[in-house]
Amino acid sequence: MRRGGALQALLALALAVGFLGSAQALRFDSRQRLKIVQAADIHFGEDGDADHATSQLLRDVLAAEQPDLVSGYAIPAANLVERVRLRMDAASLSGSWHEQQWRQLTAPLHEAGVPWAAILGNHDGEADLSRREVMALDAATGGSLSLSQSGPATLSGAGNYWLDVLEPGNSSQVAARLWSCVGGDIVEWVRQQAALLPRVPSLAFVHIPIPQFSEAWSSGAPANGTKGEETGCPLDDTGLFEVAKEFGIHSIYSGHDHDNDFAVELDGVRLAYGRKTGFGGYGPFSVQHGARVIELRMGEDTARSATWIRQQDGSQVFQQPVQEPRPHRQAGCPSIEGSCDKLLGPKMCLQLRGMRNGAEAAGALLASLVVLALTVVAGIVASRHALQHMRRRHGWRRLEAATAAKAHSPDAEV
Ligand SMILES: *[C@@H]1O[C@H](CO)[C@@H](O)[C@H](O)[C@H]1NC(C)=O
Ligand SMILES: *[C@@H]1O[C@H](CO)[C@@H](O)[C@H](O)[C@H]1NC(C)=O
Repeated sequence: MRRGGALQALLALALAVGFLGSAQALRFDSRQRLKIVQAADIHFGEDGDADHATSQLLRDVLAAEQPDLVSGYAIPAANLVERVRLRMDAASLSGSWHEQQWRQLTAPLHEAGVPWAAILGNHDGEADLSRREVMALDAATGGSLSLSQSGPATLSGAGNYWLDVLEPGNSSQVAARLWSCVGGDIVEWVRQQAALLPRVPSLAFVHIPIPQFSEAWSSGAPANGTKGEETGCPLDDTGLFEVAKEFGIHSIYSGHDHDNDFAVELDGVRLAYGRKTGFGGYGPFSVQHGARVIELRMGEDTARSATWIRQQDGSQVFQQPVQEPRPHRQAGCPSIEGSCDKLLGPKMCLQLRGMRNGAEAAGALLASLVVLALTVVAGIVASRHALQHMRRRHGWRRLEAATAAKAHSPDAEV
């Protein structure tokens, strides 16, 4: 399969959830617990050996934790030519390159019978399907195990939704809520929805860390875990943190930075990275691959939920205090991609990103134009063909009619 370079293969988050009373509802078990495995930055589809290792790790984690799973996913950034080719090959969801990858990725979940909720990362719309098509693919192939939802079409990104967790034994009593948030414009939507819903302990999964991850780390707030690279948070603070505080979303879990797995607490909200699960893409360099496990207890503030990391070698890490002085203190969010900053400095990277975004937009436009042009050419060829065919048939009919007429009147000339 295609190999993605370290820069191409940045990220995506995956989550999986389990212990369901019924296929459609998440429910606390009789011990009033719900265990979530956060599979982050899966980076599937870049390399067959890496995919094999990722599937094996998923199987091992599911066997060890027997969780209620939440899962994420990443498709590598294909180059423009590849994207156009994949797009043209994909006549429909079924039979797409993406579908093959998706079926392989979710196989361990199907084997374990563990339901999942997918949240897309920044690479998931880069192969042969759009983000909305990826979510539709998940719904179409996941059966009752997929709890993923596309969310409102008016919001940017696909996969903005929430899942309620019910009390054991009472299907109308909501006891906790999981949010999956993708776009930057979702904050107002979260506020509006949360205001209408019963107030219960809640948590959120986002792929890209919000600016408070770096702010809290740099301020010296209580933290555990590793910071191997800069926090690749967006430059703009969308205000999600304030909304989370207001509506009892007291923990936010992210992925995106492959070499960070720290958890930090700010104003009563836990901000925590998952551990990178996928073997595609770069890193992690300072720790093993693995997955974060979160155990919700009914009625408990989610900032206090038990959490640990299940590693590739089967060991569990209950987060250790951080080393002081803290590495990678940052003033704000210099970039989405911290690795560039490390190499070239934030200023240069900002300029490069501007150029790259411009180039990507131009590339996407060009790709659409190429596809449009090819469609038009194909349409013209097809219609000319049809026209010729009709003319030929028409011609034959005239000839037949004339021949028939001639047969009936021997004097007639053809
Ligand atoms: C189940 O929850 C609903 C909604 O809160 C409540 O009205 C009802 O009394 C509960 N039923 C039982 C059996 O506890
Ligand atoms: C750090 O770990 C300790 C021990 O598990 C825990 O009590 C504390 O809440 C953790 N801090 C954060 C910010 O997660």
